[in-house]
Amino acid sequence: MQSKSWLKAGLFAALATAAFAATPARAQGSLVMYCGVQEEWCRAMSTAFEKETGIKVAMTRKSAGEIYAQLKAESSNPRGDIWWGGTGDPHLQAAEEGLTLEYESPKNKELHGWALDQWKAAKQRSVGIYAGALGFGFNTEQIKAKGIPEPKCWADLLNPKLKDDVQVADPNSSGTAYNLLATVVQLMGEEKGFDYLKQLHKNVSQYTKSGAAPAKAASLGETAVGIVFIHDAVVFAVQGDPIKPVAPCEGTGYEIGSMSIVKGARNLDNAKKFYDWALTPAAQALAAPAKSYQVPSNKAAPVPAQSPKMDQMKLINYDFVKYGSSAERTRLLAKWDKEVKALPK
Ligand code: F6P
Repeated sequence: MQSKSWLKAGLFAALATAAFAATPARAQGSLVMYCGVQEEWCRAMSTAFEKETGIKVAMTRKSAGEIYAQLKAESSNPRGDIWWGGTGDPHLQAAEEGLTLEYESPKNKELHGWALDQWKAAKQRSVGIYAGALGFGFNTEQIKAKGIPEPKCWADLLNPKLKDDVQVADPNSSGTAYNLLATVVQLMGEEKGFDYLKQLHKNVSQYTKSGAAPAKAASLGETAVGIVFIHDAVVFAVQGDPIKPVAPCEGTGYEIGSMSIVKGARNLDNAKKFYDWALTPAAQALAAPAKSYQVPSNKAAPVPAQSPKMDQMKLINYDFVKYGSSAERTRLLAKWDKEVKALPK
C-alpha cells in the first residue's frame, strides 16, 4: 500500500517535471484563448502551455457573461479558439446556441462525475475543470465598527446598517453574479428570491464587472461585504487581510467552472491539445500557486489545502441544465435588469 502510493507520488512528480522542464518546442502555431478565471491563473496556464508545446498563446481575461457575448458577436467570423474557465451556465448557453464544438477528450475518464455532468448537459460541448461554492466575505474591522453581529446568512446582508456597504457583480457580465441570481431563485423560489435581490439592492454600493472584484474591495475595507465565490475571499484571508469567508447558513449554490472549444476555431488542433492538457493533474496543479483555490476536476489533481470544504457546506441541488439554458438565462437577466437594477435606491 505504502509502496504503491510512493510509486504514485513518484510518477506524478516525474510527469510534472517532464511537463514543465521540457525545453520549448519549435513554434507550433498559435492559440487564441479567452480566459474566465483570475488573471494570475490565466497567465500561469498560457505560459506553461506555451513552454511545453511551443504554441504561442494570445490570452485575454474576461468575465463569463462577457466571453459568451463575445462568442455570439463573433459567431459569423470566430476569432477565439478555446474558452477556458468561467462559470458553467454561460458555457451551457453557448453550447445550446451552437457557438461551441462537441469534443470528447481521452482525459474524460480521469474526471469527477460533476465535471462529466457538465459535459453531458452541454451535449459534449463543454466540460468541468473546477468547482467552487458561492458565498461572501466580510471585512471583520468594518463589521465590528458598525457594531453589528458577524453576518452568517444571506438574510444578514439585508441589515439596514449595511446600506451602501455590500458589493456584488452585475450578472450580465459576471458568471459569479448570475450564479447568485440563479441560487436565490432556487433557494427561495422566484418571487421571494427577487424580493431578496430588490432588498439587497438597497445595500449594494456598486455592481462590479468582474465577479471576484468585491472580495478584493472587502479585503481592503472599501466595502464591508463582498458577495463572491468563497475561494475568492479565501485568497485574501490566507494572506492575512481582515476578511472572513462565509458559506451562508440557509444553503448556497456552486459553480462548475468549464472549458469549451469555439465552433469555427481557426486553430482547432491546438485548441484540442490545450483542452487535453488542461484536464491533466499537472496542469490543474498550477491553480494553487496562482492563488486559485477551486476544487480541480481531475480526480488525481491535488486539491489545494486552502480550498473551501464543499462537502461540509449546505449546497443546493443546482439545476445547471435549467439555469444554463438560453431561455432561462436570458429571461432571468432581463427580469433582473428591469426589476432590480432599475430600482431607485
Ligand atoms: O477565478 C475566480 C472565479 O471566481 C472563478 O471561480 C469563476 O468561474 C470566475 O472567477 C467567475 O468570474 P466572473 O464572475 O467575473 O465571470
